[in-house]
Order: sequence, then C-alpha cells, then structure tokens
Amino acid sequence: MGAHRLLVSDLDGTLLGDDESLGSFRDWLTRERTGWRVVYATGRTIDSVAGLIRDGILVEPDAIVSRVGTEIHRPDGDAWPGWPTWDARWPIDAVRALMAGRVGIRPQVVANQSPWKASYHAPDLSGDAVEGVRRALADAGIDATVIYSSARDLDVLPPGAGKAAAAHALAGHWSIPDGDVIAAGDTGNDLDLLTAGFRGIVVANAQPELQRLRDPRVFHAERPFAAGVLEGIAHWSAVMSTSVRA
Ligand code: GLC
Repeated sequence: MGAHRLLVSDLDGTLLGDDESLGSFRDWLTRERTGWRVVYATGRTIDSVAGLIRDGILVEPDAIVSRVGTEIHRPDGDAWPGWPTWDARWPIDAVRALMAGRVGIRPQVVANQSPWKASYHAPDLSGDAVEGVRRALADAGIDATVIYSSARDLDVLPPGAGKAAAAHALAGHWSIPDGDVIAAGDTGNDLDLLTAGFRGIVVANAQPELQRLRDPRVFHAERPFAAGVLEGIAHWSAVMSTSVRA
C-alpha cells in the first residue's frame, strides 16, 4: 500500500514557530511517513526551505511549493514538470511600474522578488485598498492574483498561481482525491489553499483573516503552530478513515 493521503502545510507560523511541537510533528511524520505524501507550501524561497530540510528541522517532503505557489520543486531541487501553468511571459515589469506609485506600498527586498512574484510591504491596507490594487491591475489589462497577508504583505502573482493551484496540481499528479488532502495554514496566503475543497486546518495562532473563516471544511485548532497541525490531522483522520484505501 502506497501513500494515500496528502498533507500540504504552510511553514512559518504553522509548522514553524514552536520547537517542541515541531519535534512532535517530526516524530509523528517519521512514524507515519509511508501513509502520506507531504508538501510544504510557503512564501519562502526554495533555497531557504532546502536549508531547513538539510539541517533536519523539516522531514524531507515529496514536493516543495515555494514563493507563494509560483514555484514547485522536487525534493532534489529540480523544477516540477508541468509547472507553471501560466504564460512564462507574464508582464511583471508592467506590474512593478503600476505598483510603483501607490501610496503606503513599497517593494520587499530583492530576494523576495522573482519573475512571477512581485511582493510589497503594505501595512494595514483596508479591504477597499486591496480591491483598489486588483481593480488597477485589471484596468491596465493585467491578469493577476493579488494576495494580502498578515496586514502587511502584498503579493502580486500570475493568474493560476497560488498555493491552492499548486496543491491541486500535485494531488492530481498523485491521484489523491480532495477529501484525502489536508491543508494547514495561518495567514492570508493560505486562504486559497484552505478553501480549495480540501480539509483545512487553521492553527490557533492564525492571523485574523483566517480566524474569521467559517467553513465546514475548515477546522480551527485550539493549539498553536505544529501542535495545531497535529490536532487537525487527528480531527480529520477520524473522518477520513472511511475513505482510506486498504
Ligand atoms: C513570505 C515571503 C514574502 C511574502 C509573504 C506573504 O514572507 O517571503 O515575500 O510577501 O510570505 O505571502
């Protein structure tokens, strides 16, 4: 019997944040590894995630979704075949030019930018202001995904990018049905993943944008960080056991 379930988890603020419960998560995963495919889905770069795996902080996954679902890599570092799904000539220069003049929005460090990810510091933007960014991009004829997280980070990504799209591509590749996929997160860049039709876990320390989420497919853990992920896995496993293939 091969792996029949998939766990897609965010890193910072979800699996990472409390060393003790991360240790318990590592122990759990090492024990249960054969039953699960595991994917880390993060805003970090692939190099940064590779470093955490090399240092033994994270168990080796089956794939890594990095830069907010714009890149997917195999554990050996190779790019995932068939990804991305969008036109590689996405007009990022036009995105950057359009964003340059906007009040209260300034670019993040160069290391956080890529041809498929324009990222900004934009503290305390209102919902209307985020909508204003979406509208301005649409008015300029630019097809884009706009994600606002932690009342601070604004990411402008190609259409079809994001953690949910990447998770769907991987679940499809492994033929794992949505009901056997668990997704865990703590901030706005996990929102699409948590509402993608999988079984969601919001950890107790999550940002308000996820605390507000009310959805029968989303479990709000009482515990923070990796302890909340383990709590959510136990919660959903009880439900999922009926669909487990023998
Ligand atoms: C990570 C990335 C940053 C992004 C944020 C939210 O912190 O480094 O670029 O804006 O996640 O997606």
